[in-house]
Amino acid sequence: MISADGSDFVIADSCIGRVVVSESDLQRRVAELGRTITADYAGRPPLLVGVLKGACFFLADLARAIDLPIEIDFMAVSSYGSATTTSGVVRIVKDLDADLTERHVLIVEDIVDSGLTLSYLRRNLLARNPASLEVVALLVKEGLQSVDLDLAYQGFSIPPDFVIGYGLDVAERYRNLPYLATYVEGG
Ligand code: IMP
Ligand code: MG
Repeated sequence: MISADGSDFVIADSCIGRVVVSESDLQRRVAELGRTITADYAGRPPLLVGVLKGACFFLADLARAIDLPIEIDFMAVSSYGSATTTSGVVRIVKDLDADLTERHVLIVEDIVDSGLTLSYLRRNLLARNPASLEVVALLVKEGLQSVDLDLAYQGFSIPPDFVIGYGLDVAERYRNLPYLATYVEGG
């Protein structure tokens, strides 16, 4: 069987809807972002801060596309539980190991929906006195943000459907899909 984006990776599941970004488009854009970040951060290698769990696939690919002596760290925040609509409540579930003082910090986010998670994270990390703080978000949902995002780097702008794959889940499933698809509720 051939999957919707033409790869031979198949999870037979009718909840997986149409392809939003194919595996090859993801890889191409991540490589581009890596080249841009390599140029922008020459001489001041960043600490990549991945937001678990969704961003870990993106971070793993992005880190290998950056030709600088970077470091990585992770934090986990909870904003959704297993529901598909935002609760507006952000809570740190796992904090960073690294001290951010005088570090060039680059937050690596999977997807920006309302922007609430990101604006919380930005305020929280800025209070730790980094030398600089920027954000790279792989995906931004069109037209849903109530806050000013100020993203230094953005992968794709996508329609405001709920999406799965490449790290994004519904109740912890579908993260290992190599492409991004819509989620068909009750499909
Ligand atoms: P925000 O606070 O509304 O911007 O939501 C951001 C977080 O919600 C992301 O880091 C994701 O973990 C999750 N999220 C938002 N939209 C989606 C989606 O379409 N699929 C899976 N997770 C999502
Ligand atoms: Mg999530």
